[in-house]
Amino acid sequence: MGFTPFMLLPPFAYRNQNLFVEDCDLEAIARREGTPLYVYSKQAILSRYHAYEAGFGSFPHQICYAVKANSNLSILRLLAQAGAGFDIVSGGELYRVLQAGGNPAKVVFSGVGKTREEIEYALESGIHSFNCESEAELSLLSSIAARLNKVARIALRVNPHVDAATHPYISTGLRDHKFGIDITAVEAVYQRALTLPHLQLEGVSAHIGSQLLDTQPLLAALDALLALITRLRAAGVPITHLDIGGGLGVPYREGQVEPVVSDHLAAVCARCAGLGLILLTEPGRSIVGPAGVLLTRVLYRKKTETKEFVIVDAAMNDLIRPSLYEAHHEIVPLRRAFPGTFVADVVGPVCESGDFFARDRDMAQCLPGDFLALVTAGAYGFVLASNYNTRPRAAEVLVDGAHWRVVRRRETYEDLVRGE
Ligand code: LLP
Repeated sequence: MGFTPFMLLPPFAYRNQNLFVEDCDLEAIARREGTPLYVYSKQAILSRYHAYEAGFGSFPHQICYAVKANSNLSILRLLAQAGAGFDIVSGGELYRVLQAGGNPAKVVFSGVGKTREEIEYALESGIHSFNCESEAELSLLSSIAARLNKVARIALRVNPHVDAATHPYISTGLRDHKFGIDITAVEAVYQRALTLPHLQLEGVSAHIGSQLLDTQPLLAALDALLALITRLRAAGVPITHLDIGGGLGVPYREGQVEPVVSDHLAAVCARCAGLGLILLTEPGRSIVGPAGVLLTRVLYRKKTETKEFVIVDAAMNDLIRPSLYEAHHEIVPLRRAFPGTFVADVVGPVCESGDFFARDRDMAQCLPGDFLALVTAGAYGFVLASNYNTRPRAAEVLVDGAHWRVVRRRETYEDLVRGE
């Protein structure tokens, strides 16, 4: 009968006709807080984090949540309290982590373009280590550490030439990508770095891409890194930690199967057994992606000769993934009111033809005023939002059991012109 929605992952589920997350009715939240609105589940975030903890078991490790996936302070605080460290890519992310009570000693700093100011801030804050991506960055780090009389702990980010077989914009481990240092050249860089003062060379890191549903490329990269570590140690570089990056994918559409974190980590730990390494990992999407939805309201239905459009109040400025990567997000009604489906493009109010959430999508029947959820929107959703078309950014809500609270208020028009 009627519309059979995408297999929702718990704790999202219909109770009778209404979509709930944990014990909260999403439509009640949308009516109270307005739309567009991001809603996240505390239970989902923590259980996904704990799957990583359990997967490592007693193997020495540190999970460094990739802040870029979702940097809301309340989510960072939740993860910090659960014991997480953080992978940052900017001074702004470090500021957020510290504001949220994160432990700087569990922070790794990644990225190809760290500025002098960011490096100083990170050294002064006492972060765990830098994942360095070039020789020029190493020299700068050495000179800044010397001036501050600090020692910078270093891992070199290695580009292992492994095809992550994911969308080209989120693949990072091939020879012509800007990321990392080529695996064939990196040993010489380690040797030169050993001669630089105020650096402690102790790690190898890699991140080959994001949204990997197949873990084989991650294991292929790991094998290459372990062989490299053996060569480095033989050459006198005392490697003690290996950062395997992030990248595990999540299901966005029916039929996609999520890699099982514990299976993947069991394979990783088995390969690393007995090597005396501390393992670091930088998951982002797999912790928060399925834990969040973007709620929106239908404004109009509009028919042209060739198409029908559902125009909603969220837009590409709220969730850019469909426009940027042609990413698929399932769209489900918050209340299953009507039987039957129809085919439509789901679009927002922004003045761009690229402002779409779905094309030729089989949709549950809906009317203006009805609420919809864009599913699996917890990662790379709000963090990529902009004020394009002078649209205030959405509010964010965190659900905990039968309770929920606003963890970022909706922007106002005054917010939008502040600073001009
Ligand atoms: N570590 C590094 C160095 C990274 O560059 C990334 C993601 C991560 C960890 C986390 O990867 P994850 O576990 O989330 O796959 N905006 C795109 C994704 C960009 C990913 C960038 N780097 C999207 O919406 O699909």
